[in-house]
Amino acid sequence: MTKEHLITWDTAFEVGIASIDDQHRVLVDYINDIAYAIECEPIKTEISELFTKFYDYTKFHFKTEEAYFFTLNENDCLLHQLQHKHFIEELDSIIALNETQTCSQESLYLLADWLLSHIQEEDLKFLQQHKS
Ligand SMILES: [Fe+2]
Repeated sequence: MTKEHLITWDTAFEVGIASIDDQHRVLVDYINDIAYAIECEPIKTEISELFTKFYDYTKFHFKTEEAYFFTLNENDCLLHQLQHKHFIEELDSIIALNETQTCSQESLYLLADWLLSHIQEEDLKFLQQHKS
């Protein structure tokens, strides 16, 4: 089966900071890999391993982004951190329910939708407001 991407990277996803854009691309790649594994691989451990990598990288990315945003505006960064925290809690609940092995297409679509909306609306808005 040909590997089709759930999300095709688009310049509309770019926020203009190379290091952050690169990390966002990695997150999109993970989502595409998980989508492919759900669709094609009956081996549940692979989905679970990919999900764990996605989870770890998401935490790493949020820390990087927050450290940078904090230098631009401390108060708004704290609000932005709450959005990140909420997303991590969503991932935590999937892990707590032991659903990483059965991560459904529907829950992956919800995660993908949150991530793309967050990048295009919240990350971009923050940078437009605070980066001179
Ligand atoms: Fe963000």
